Order: sequence, then C-alpha cells, then structure tokens
Amino acid sequence: MPDLSGLRYLVKTFGCQMNLFDSELVCGLMEAAQAKRVEEVEDADIVIFMTCCVRENADTRVFGQIASMKNLPARSGSQLGTRLVAVGGCIGQRDGGKLIESFPNIDVVFGTHNIEELPELLAQAIACAKPQLSLIDDRVPYDSSFPTVRESRFQAWLPIMKGCNNFCSYCIVPYVRGREMSRPMEEVVADARALVDDGVREITLLGQNVNSYGRDIYGNPRFAKLLRAVGKTGIERLRFLTSHPKDLTDETIEAMATVESIMPFLHLPVQSGSNKVLADMNRRYTASHYLGIIDKLKAAVPGIAFSTDIIVGYPTETEADFLDTMAIVDEVGYSQAFTFIYSKRAGTPAAEMENVSTREEIQDRFDRLVEVVQRGAYDANQVDRGKVVKVLVEGLSKRDDSKLSGRSEKNQTVHFDCPEGIEPEQMVGRIVEVRVDLARTWYLSGELVGQPW
Ligand code: 5AD
Ligand code: SF4
Repeated sequence: MPDLSGLRYLVKTFGCQMNLFDSELVCGLMEAAQAKRVEEVEDADIVIFMTCCVRENADTRVFGQIASMKNLPARSGSQLGTRLVAVGGCIGQRDGGKLIESFPNIDVVFGTHNIEELPELLAQAIACAKPQLSLIDDRVPYDSSFPTVRESRFQAWLPIMKGCNNFCSYCIVPYVRGREMSRPMEEVVADARALVDDGVREITLLGQNVNSYGRDIYGNPRFAKLLRAVGKTGIERLRFLTSHPKDLTDETIEAMATVESIMPFLHLPVQSGSNKVLADMNRRYTASHYLGIIDKLKAAVPGIAFSTDIIVGYPTETEADFLDTMAIVDEVGYSQAFTFIYSKRAGTPAAEMENVSTREEIQDRFDRLVEVVQRGAYDANQVDRGKVVKVLVEGLSKRDDSKLSGRSEKNQTVHFDCPEGIEPEQMVGRIVEVRVDLARTWYLSGELVGQPW
C-alpha cells in the first residue's frame, strides 16, 4: 500500500447504494494508505468522485462539479501545492481516457472493477505529475479482504454480487458494471456474521438483481437460500436491493414470510404498467405477473410495504400506456416510488429510438404521476396512525434537530422527541418503540413508548 500520509481526501458519492458501498471501500483503502478524510472541498488535497451515469441529469451534475474544481486554490498548507481530482464509478468506467481529454484538471480515472488500485494510481499521479488511467473488464467478484470504512456503526451494505445480465433496453448499467458475478455463499455469510459481531443491527444485501444471485456460480439462483443463511447469523434486520420481478421466486416469498429478521418491505421496480412498454423495455414480465407477486407478498407478509422505480416517457410510451402505469400505481399502493423521466443513454438499444410523445406531454404525465404517488404514499402511511412501530434510531432529524429520527421496519422515516435527560447520541443505534400520532406523505412522527434505553 503506498504511503499517502499527510494528505487529506474527500469522497463525493453520486447514485445508487452500490456506489455508497464502493465509497466505503474507497475510504477504507485511503485510510489504509494513511490519508485523512475531510468533509469540505477546501480542506482536501484529493477529491474523489464516485460517479453515476444511469440518467442524463446524473452525468450533468458530476461534470459540473468536476469542472468547478479547477477554479479552487489548493488547500492552505497543502504539501502538494495543488488539488488532485480522481474520478471513479460508472462514468470513469464508461468514459475512461475521454474524461482526461475533456477535463484537463482530472488526475486519476479508475473504473468499477479496480477500486483497490486507487491509492497506487494517486501515488503515481503525484510522483510523475501526469494523469493516470486504469480500467479493467470485470473478472473478479468483490473481495471482502479489502478494508472498508462504514458510514454507520449499526447499518451495513453487504454486496452479494455485482453486474447485471438483463440489458433492459434503456439501461447503461450492464455496460458499466459488467455481467453478473456472485460471491460464494459462505463468504457472504461469513461477512454477515462478522458484521453482527461488530455490532451491526441492520444489513442490506446489495446487487443489481439479487434474485438471480448464484446463477453464475451454482447454475441456478440461490437467493432464497442465502436469505435463510444470513437470517441465521443473528442479524436483527435484513433488507435487500434490488429485485427484478421476473426472477422473484415463490421460494424467496416464503423466505420473506418465515425469516424473522427480513423486514416487511420490498423495493420492486415496475418501470411501467403497460405490457407493450414492458416488452419494449425488455423487462420480460407483464403487469399481471407483477401484480401476482404483489398479491402473494401481501398474503404472505402481512402489512408489507412496497417501493418502486418508474420511468415516464420511454420512447414508445403513449398516453394509453401511461394510464396503465397510473393504474398499477393505484393498485399496489406504494409507500414510496422513485419516478424518472426517460433519458437517452448512448450505447443502449433504446437510444436509437425516436419518441412518440412530445416533451410537454411527458412532463405533464410525470407531474400527474408524482401527484398519484404522493397521494398513495400518504394513504399507505395512514394505516400506522395510532400504532406502535419499531424504529432503528439513525440520528438527529434533518428537519428538526430537537428530534431524533430513524427507520421503521417498513422503511418509513419516523421522527420522535429524545427523552429528557438522555443525550441523543446515546439513542443512536437502538431499536425503540414509537407510537405514531402523525402520518404524513414522507414520514411518521410520534412519542416513544416503554423505556427500552
Ligand atoms: N432513463 C430514465 N430512468 C432510468 N433508469 C435507468 N435507466 C434510465 C434511463 N435511461 C431508472 C430505472 C431504474 C433506476 C435505478 O433508474 O427506473 O430502476
Ligand atoms: Fe438496468 Fe435492467 Fe439491470 Fe436493473 S435489471 S440494472 S434496470 S439492466
């Protein structure tokens, strides 16, 4: 490991949970190289961008921020006399050397499969004062022997696989994250056990399509078995992201119903409610198949909450198709939905297609969808009014720092007052009971009950 002692680094993370995990790995590697983490750009000798290119606005934001770095003077007292800029993640993997041509202030570009090279690349960039580029194709699954620095003491991301084989027609992910590559089950379970021993109370298993976990190494998916095995480690709360409806099996539904630590919540991207658009998107399920899964889950896991991703304005989407999406949103009753206007991603099949709807029509659909999603989320939260919910306390509320906030089992944000005479910090990481007296669209609030502290 090169010696970067005396240097201060900042990580800016964009995009999905996989990037959040990759950033924890970056921090682990930088700490192992003796660099010190800071929170402000002005205090940093090295700014590391962990980038996302899944939608156009993600690209634009990152490029704007990279460009703005060149106007900032070096940190006062910096031994480098300059500020290094490193770009990793999905844009690094996609654009490689083109990034260095477009942004002469970039010093290091690395990809999604060689994060562990970052300290060495930085050391080389410093030693020879020349930009360094290193990208590889995917060959190795995640290696848990690399150090990570977790953002939270009691919550952890645990990657079980990387990559995606699905090639949804709008999506860039398979091109920048490679093909599915599962980690051996024993390794994932051993990692989970180590996290439990370290005081972690909630694990979120990560993969682009967790339901096909194991297919590449065992010949058939083993996700349900993995859930059962991780459930036996003593973890209190178990979640997972992201599920593909075409691969979600009855065995997994059964595991969700029977493994006590699996939380009654599922993120199940639907993308569209129109069978025609779903086929065009290469999603390989129909609206009725999707609703069938939702019904089975509602029956198997009482009170389960759902969230989803929806794309509006896919090139072949007409008003009638959009109304099918509105209908499915209404029928499921999502507690949360991430809504996106379709954006062209160069290199994907859909990028070649012309849109059948105008910008204005698409914007209008998007606005109508957001309204229905918000109403649905509000309604979904009302069922918890007056109920006592279990909350894993995360910290002070961002809206009101006289309150604490955390997540319910159904993944709702819950705010409540810190009990008198108790330091808020003492409550963080505990699982407490809150009686809900107010249920809004995006949060619940209430009073602590019992005295679990
Ligand atoms: N345009 C808009 N949204 C997209 N997503 C993925 N690719 C695109 C795109 N080209 C959305 C999908 C996916 C989420 C992570 O991002 O809804 O589930
Ligand atoms: Fe993209 Fe589809 Fe793979 Fe999800 S399943 S990462 S949307 S290609």
